[in-house]
Amino acid sequence: MRNIGALRGYLLRYPGKLALGVSANLAMALVGLAHPIVVGRGVDALREMVSGRTLLAYGALLVGIAAAQGGLSFIQRMTLVAVSRDVEFDLRNEYFQRLLELPLSFYQHHHTGDLMARGTNDLQAVRMLCGPAIMYSANTLFTAVGALAFMTYLHPRLTVAALVTMPLVALAAKLFGQRIHTLFEKVQEQFGVLSTRVQENLAGARVVRAYAREDHEQAEFERLNRDYIEKSAKLIRWDSAFRPLLQLLVGVGFVVVLLYGGRLVMREELTIGQFVTFNFFLVRLIWPMIAIGWVINLAQRGSASLGRILEVLETEPEIRDEERAASVGNLTPSISFRGVDFDYGDGVPVLRDVSFELPEGSTLALVGRTGSGKSTLLSLIPRLLDPPPDSVFVGGHDVRRLPLAELRRTCAVVPQETVLFSASVLDNIRMSRPQAGLDEVERAVEAAGLGPDLDAFPDRLEALVGERGLTLSGGQKQRVALARAILREPLVLLLDDCLSAVDTETEERILRHLQEIFIGRTVMLVSHRVSTVRHADQILVLDHGRVVERGTHGQLVAKEGGLYADLERRQRLEDELAVV
Ligand SMILES: Nc1ncnc2c1ncn2[C@@H]1O[C@H](COP(=O)(O)OP(=O)(O)OP(=O)(O)O)[C@@H](O)[C@H]1O
Ligand SMILES: [Mg+2]
Repeated sequence: MRNIGALRGYLLRYPGKLALGVSANLAMALVGLAHPIVVGRGVDALREMVSGRTLLAYGALLVGIAAAQGGLSFIQRMTLVAVSRDVEFDLRNEYFQRLLELPLSFYQHHHTGDLMARGTNDLQAVRMLCGPAIMYSANTLFTAVGALAFMTYLHPRLTVAALVTMPLVALAAKLFGQRIHTLFEKVQEQFGVLSTRVQENLAGARVVRAYAREDHEQAEFERLNRDYIEKSAKLIRWDSAFRPLLQLLVGVGFVVVLLYGGRLVMREELTIGQFVTFNFFLVRLIWPMIAIGWVINLAQRGSASLGRILEVLETEPEIRDEERAASVGNLTPSISFRGVDFDYGDGVPVLRDVSFELPEGSTLALVGRTGSGKSTLLSLIPRLLDPPPDSVFVGGHDVRRLPLAELRRTCAVVPQETVLFSASVLDNIRMSRPQAGLDEVERAVEAAGLGPDLDAFPDRLEALVGERGLTLSGGQKQRVALARAILREPLVLLLDDCLSAVDTETEERILRHLQEIFIGRTVMLVSHRVSTVRHADQILVLDHGRVVERGTHGQLVAKEGGLYADLERRQRLEDELAVV
C-alpha cells in the first residue's frame, strides 16, 4: 500500500488527463446502468401495447447508449492509458538517472540483469497498475455501487438473496490474491536471475567459447529457464483457477434470482420487465466481480514491481556533495594522504595507515603485489570510493569537503579495466570533453601513442568500436582510454596500470611524451614494471595495504633485500635473458 501511495505523486503530475479520464469512466458506468432499465421498460411496454414506434424508440435509445459508451470509452482510454505511459516515461528516466548516480558499491550488491529486469518487466507491471488497474477499478466501483443501488430499489430482499455468495467471492479474492502476489514476485525475481545469466554470457562471449563452456552454459540456462517457466506455470494455475471459481460463485446468484425472483413475478410483486432489469444488473455485476480479482491482481503485481523500482530510487547515493562542501575555485593539484585506513565495509583492512605527500607537478608511482591495494588507493582520490574524513587531501582540501564535480574535473582516471562504448573511436575519446576540437583530439591520440594504430583503421577516428571494443586489441583499447584522459587536460592524472597490455618499448615512449606535456601536473601511476616507474619522483611500495618502502628508484634499488630491489633484479634478469 505504501508503494501505491508513492505512485499517487507520479499520477498527480497529470491532473487534467487524470480528471478527464476518471470523469469519462464515471459517465460510462452511469450510461451502462441505463441499459438494463431501458430493456426492462421495453419488456413491460410489450405487455401493454405493441406499437412499432415504441419499439423503434427503445431500439434507438439502446443504440444511443451503445454509442455514448463507445465515445466515453474512447476518451477514457485516450486519457488514462496516456497517463500510464507518462508515468512510465517519468519512472524510467528517474530510474536510469539514479542508476547513474549510485556509487560503485551499489553495483556489487545488485546484478545487472536484475537491475535491467526492474527497468523493463517491473516497469511494465507498474504501467498496468497506472492504466488498466485504475480504469477498471474505477469502473468496477461505479458500476457495482450503481447496480446495487438500483437492485435494492427494485427489491431489497431479492438483492440480498442474489448476493449470498458475495462473502465467498471476497474471501476467494483475498486468498487467491495473496498467493498470486507472492508467486508473481518469485516469477519476477527469477526473470532477473535469467537476465543476469544472459547478460554475463553475452559480455563473456570470448571466455565461454575459449573454454568450450557452451554446453555447460546452455544446460545451466535451460535449468534457470525451466525454473522460470515452472514458477510462471504455478502462477498461471492459481490465476486460471481463480476466474472460473468466481464465475461459479456468481452463477449461484443467477439460480437464486431465477427461483426466488420467478416466484415474486408470479406473485406479481415484480413485473416481468423489472425481473429482466434485475437480471441484467446482475450480469453487469459479473464483470466487476471478475474485475475485482483481476484488478487486485494487477494492483498487487504492480505494487510489488513498484516496490522493486522504489528500492533503487530511494537508495541515496552515498557519495555526493556534503553539506559543508564549498567551491574553492582553482584547486592546486597536490595530493596528500594522512594515515589513511580503508576497508570495503567488511572489516578487512585494505589500506593501513597510508601517508604520503605528492607536491604539485611531481610524479608518484605505486608498485606492489597484486591485491596490495593500489587500485583502491587511486579510487579514493576522485572519491570513486569514499575515504574516511580528513584523510585524503587535494590542494590541501579534504576531498570530502570539495564539490564532487570540481574534484572530478581536476582528476582524470584511466582505470585498470578499459571500458569503451559502442561508438566511434572519436566519440569514445571525446567523452571526457565533448566540445574538444578535432586538432585537440589528434594531439591526445598522438600523446597516447595511438596514431600509427589509427592509420591502419579504415576510417581512422570514425572507426566504430564494436560492442565492448571487441575489434580493438587490448593495448589499443588501453590507449584509447588514455587518450580520453589526456584530452581532459586534467591537473591530476591517475593511471592504474593502464599500459599493461602495451609492449615495454611503446610504453616508455608514451610515458616520456606524457612527461613533456604534463609539466606542472601531478601524475600517479600504478605499474608492475620497473621500467615504467623508474623515472617517478617517488615510488611507494605497497604490501598488504601498507607502505613498506618509499623513495626514488636509486634509493630503493640500493636497499638490500627490499621488495623493490628484488623486483628490479628479477626484471633485469628477464630482460638480459630475453636479449640472449
Ligand atoms: N569491491 C571490493 N570489495 C571488497 N574487497 C575488495 C573490493 N575491491 C578490491 N577488494 C580487495 O581489496 C584488496 C586490494 O584490491 P586492489 O584492487 O586495490 O588491489 P591492486 O593492488 O590494485 O591489485 P592489482 O595489482 O591486481 O590490480 C584485494 O584484497 C581485493 O580483494
Ligand atoms: Mg589494481
